[in-house]
Amino acid sequence: MSFPVVRNRRLRGTSALRSLVRENQITVNDLVQPVFVTYGTNIKEEISSMAGVYHFSLDRVEEEIKEITDLGIQAILLFGVPEHKDAQGSSAFDDEGIVQQATRRIKEINPNLLIIADTCLCQFTDTGHCGVIHHHPVTGQADVHNDLSLELLVRTAVSQAKAGADIIAPSNMMDGYVHAIRTGLDEAGYENTPIMAYSVKYASAYYGPFREAAHSTPQFGDRKTYQMDPANGREALREAESDVVEGADFLMVKPALAYMDIIRMLKDNFDLPVVAYNVSAEYAMIKAAALQGWINEEAVVMETMISFKRAGADIILTYFAKDVARYLQR
Ligand code: PBG
Ligand code: ZN
Repeated sequence: MSFPVVRNRRLRGTSALRSLVRENQITVNDLVQPVFVTYGTNIKEEISSMAGVYHFSLDRVEEEIKEITDLGIQAILLFGVPEHKDAQGSSAFDDEGIVQQATRRIKEINPNLLIIADTCLCQFTDTGHCGVIHHHPVTGQADVHNDLSLELLVRTAVSQAKAGADIIAPSNMMDGYVHAIRTGLDEAGYENTPIMAYSVKYASAYYGPFREAAHSTPQFGDRKTYQMDPANGREALREAESDVVEGADFLMVKPALAYMDIIRMLKDNFDLPVVAYNVSAEYAMIKAAALQGWINEEAVVMETMISFKRAGADIILTYFAKDVARYLQR
């Protein structure tokens, strides 16, 4: 008995045929570009482990915003490096803090650009942790205190919304953070400000370059008591479920490349927009190989982006956003 050859190649014969049957597309509307702002004047300083990504002082952020806007990118994720750190991370929720000032400045430059504010304390606490440290009264063990941290995170989110942030993106992984922030925003009159929840955030080594960029490396211990164990998949459903119940408007998976199964899982189980955060070391690995001339950067970047879409991401947060927007224009 002989089998007929199944002619799968039939639909691959020409570029037009391939376009006709293509299942996924990348457009500039899918992209969010992270932006780092810092104190000082006349600063545009490259982050050493992230070639092509810079810290900008407020007086120079305009050039970056113009470039992003001219490329047609609609949204940025804003990170601030403060001048001053303390136990509470108080400059995170200071109306004159770096993120708040930058938000107002960017809104002056382009009121239509969506500003997504990362809501966390780790850039602002002297411990580098995402919340306040509490010593257990009996064991003496130091850990991030959930509910005390929530209060400060709510103040941060409200202050960011007040400064003009369009979307609040809490990345702290405290329990109940979406409910607390939703309630705080609503009470302050920001019931229309969406929450992009970092729902499934792993305790990942892929954040290394970011921590250098944001000066947010924990000064002791690690983030494993609040961020997820990379070995766990089903637990992602619990994390996402609680955020949905608490009122999240977007669900994020972070990092992205090593967690494609989780992106797919959220896409199949929930109907909120799914966001893939292509994190700093994922960027750095591709950049480093490209700078050595070992890979075709454009091809690898575009293949990576389309794979996020294929996995189920609706939105891609990536340090490559400007590059991708440029490639798409050709
Ligand atoms: C802060 C925060 C981190 C990232 C985004 N927000 C670092 C961390 O949790 O340690 C990582 C982003 C990246 O690596 O690109 N909580
Ligand atoms: Zn943090």
